Parts: sequence; structure tokens; C-alpha cells
Amino acid sequence: MAVTRVPLGHRSYDILIEHGALDRAGDHLARFARKGRLVVITDDDVAAAQLTRLETALAAAGVSIEPIVLPSGESTKSWRFLEVLLDRLLALEVERSDHVVALGGGVIGDLVGFAASILKRGCNFVQVPTTLLAQVDSSVGGKTAINTGAGKNLIGSFHQPSFVLIDPSTLDTLDARQTRAGYAEVVKYGLIDDPAFFAWCEANGPALLAGDDAARTAAIEKSVAAKAAIVGEDERETSGRRALLNLGHTFGHALEAETGFSDTLLHGEAVAAGMALAFRFSARQGLCDPAEAARVSAHLQAVGLPHDLPTAHVSASGEALVAHMLHDKKMAGGNLPFLLARGIGRTYLAKDVALSDVAAFLDEEQAG
Ligand SMILES: NC(=O)c1ccc[n+]([C@@H]2O[C@H](COP(=O)([O-])OP(=O)(O)OC[C@H]3O[C@@H](n4cnc5c(N)ncnc54)[C@H](O)[C@@H]3O)[C@@H](O)[C@H]2O)c1
Ligand SMILES: [Zn+2]
Repeated sequence: MAVTRVPLGHRSYDILIEHGALDRAGDHLARFARKGRLVVITDDDVAAAQLTRLETALAAAGVSIEPIVLPSGESTKSWRFLEVLLDRLLALEVERSDHVVALGGGVIGDLVGFAASILKRGCNFVQVPTTLLAQVDSSVGGKTAINTGAGKNLIGSFHQPSFVLIDPSTLDTLDARQTRAGYAEVVKYGLIDDPAFFAWCEANGPALLAGDDAARTAAIEKSVAAKAAIVGEDERETSGRRALLNLGHTFGHALEAETGFSDTLLHGEAVAAGMALAFRFSARQGLCDPAEAARVSAHLQAVGLPHDLPTAHVSASGEALVAHMLHDKKMAGGNLPFLLARGIGRTYLAKDVALSDVAAFLDEEQAG
């Protein structure tokens, strides 16, 4: 069992990572119940796969759950389901001092976190993430959001959970493609500032994706520790430190927009291709050894993740992709901040990137 603390003064919280923790949820979550009841928000697929485990474990500790089951999928992160959820929480008379539980992937975590941040001006919540992406990234750090017609994650808040319970065994029921997509965010931590961890990924990534529990637990512990440290330093992305977590995301966002934010390209898959592109662009600009960029692509390819435009199913021109980037919310004062790399584990925030260079690079990539 590993416990990592997110250091944020009186809002500090623990992240517990333990195989089988869900079956011992009474030990970990009973203290968040009021009058023997805990409201648990989840989605259809997670309810079918994992809710009984939580319910049984809490019942053994004398806690009954009040489940709210929403549809699975990105479209649940919407005004509509925010309203549905808030109305249910009000009907259940959830109080400001109460804790509600988000059991699911990033969609449920982001929606529940946002609802908790505004219910009666803010109640508490606990994250029980069940996708690899949520376990290594979205459940930690307090970013909450819904999507609107104007774009993804444009409405939201910073609202930190009170506790995060991660049981890697929940991944046993997760689709292999979803797990692989989440793995891209694991690799990201190595590429940002930890070359030894990237080497670990090269050696252990295939076993992790085959379901090896020691490998996935080690990867989650490492990723969570990295994210917790960054969030502790720069909770609201003001110093530039937290922005490093967006490695591969500017390119990735353009690929996601081009493929219509659909199942053609999952978020993590777009991030994988985006990281490979960021490294090759850095090499093209003479910042990074091309051999390092090739090593990044080779690992992503080895585990079956997209690593260039064709494997991301994108055939658009550089100009079209740059146009998507200009709609990115991270655009500041007309300059597009870009995460580039001087090598593996040497990512930095560049503020002087010419978009014409990016477009020319993407056209070269497209030409092969
Ligand atoms: N808040 C943040 O910091 C942050 C960071 C990264 C991503 N996100 C957000 O996270 C969302 C994506 O999250 P995601 O990739 O976890 O997707 P998701 O929540 O949609 O989960 C993917 C699919 O897997 C199913 N599922 C989840 N856990 C399962 C399990 N254990 N067994 C069987 N099925 C399971 C879900 O029902 C869903 O159909 C996006 O909306 C993104 O914007 C937020
Ligand atoms: Zn991401």
C-alpha cells in the first residue's frame, strides 16, 4: 500500500494506492459517510463492472450507498447531466459538510468534482478512479469541468477532493484500448522530467498493458507522486510548472479536434501522437537529438499507440491543424505556448514558437 500526500496546506489530501482497496472500502471510506449513508455517483459501465464491490465492502462496515448512475461517455460531462446530478443531490439532501463519491473514469470525476464545487456553494468529494487515465492523471489535482458547444473543459473549477482511493485491480474490467490510451499519460511523466522512468516504461510498459499488477501499481504510484508534487507547487497553473503536464496536448488537441473528439482517436491516443510530434518538432528546431525523438516514437509504437499523423488517422494539412490549436484555451496574448523538449526528461515551456514553423513541420510529417 502506498500513500501519497498532495501538499496544499489545509486542503492537503491523501491518495491511497492498493490492489484490492475497493474490497476494503469500509476501512477507507466509512469515515466519509453520514448517518450510515454515502452517495456514490458512477456511470452505467462502471456500475456494471465495479459498483457491487464497493457496495459489498461498505455494507460490511455498516454503510449503505445511494447510487446515482449516469450514462457512460464524454457527453455526460454536460450542462444537462450537471443539472440532473445536482437535482438528485439536492433531493437526497446532501449537505455542505457531506462527502459524495465519484466512482469512474475522468468523465465521472470531472462532472462530480464540478457538481461538488457548486452544490450549496461547495460540498466535499472523494475520487475512486477506475480508468488508468483517471488513476494517473485526472483524479489528482482538483481540475473539474464540463464540455459545452464552445469546446471541451471550458466551464469548470478548481476543487480538490478530500481523498483519492486507487485500486489498480479495477483495471481488470477496463477495455484494453482505454488502458493503453491512459498509459500515454504515464509515459508523459517520464518524458517531462524523469528519463529513468521513461526507461522503466520501455522495459515494463508491455507487461503493464498485459495486466501485470506489480507493473501497473508501480506506474500508478510513480505517476501520482509526480502529479501530486507538481500540483503542490503550482495548483492553479500560474507559475508554468503545472503547464508541463500538457506535454503533447497542444498537438494532441488539434488531432482530437480534427477527428471530432470521437472514438476515432481517444484523448490518450491523441496525447501519444502529440508527444511524438512535440519531440520530432523539437528535433527539427535543433533543440533535441533526433535519436531521442525516435526513441519516444519507437516506444509508443511498440505498445500500439499512435505516434504520427497516419496512425492518429489524421490527414489534414498543417494549416488546418494549426487553426485548431489557435482555438485552444491555453492561448495567451496571441502567442501559443508550446511544450518542447531538449531531450527525454527535459521538457520546457517555449513561448516563442512560430506557428508557421509548426504548420510547415506538420506538412512535412504529412508528406512522410
Ligand atoms: N481533471 C483533469 O485533470 C483531467 C485530466 C485528464 C483528463 N480529464 C478528462 O477525463 C475524461 C476522460 O476520462 P477517461 O479516459 O477515464 O474516460 P471515461 O471516464 O469516459 O471512461 C472510459 C470508458 O470506460 C468505462 N469504464 C471506466 N472504468 C471502467 C472499469 N474499471 N471497467 C469497465 N469500464 C470502465 C467508462 O464507463 C467509459 O465508457 C475527459 O473528459 C478529460 O477531459 C480530466
Ligand atoms: Zn491528458
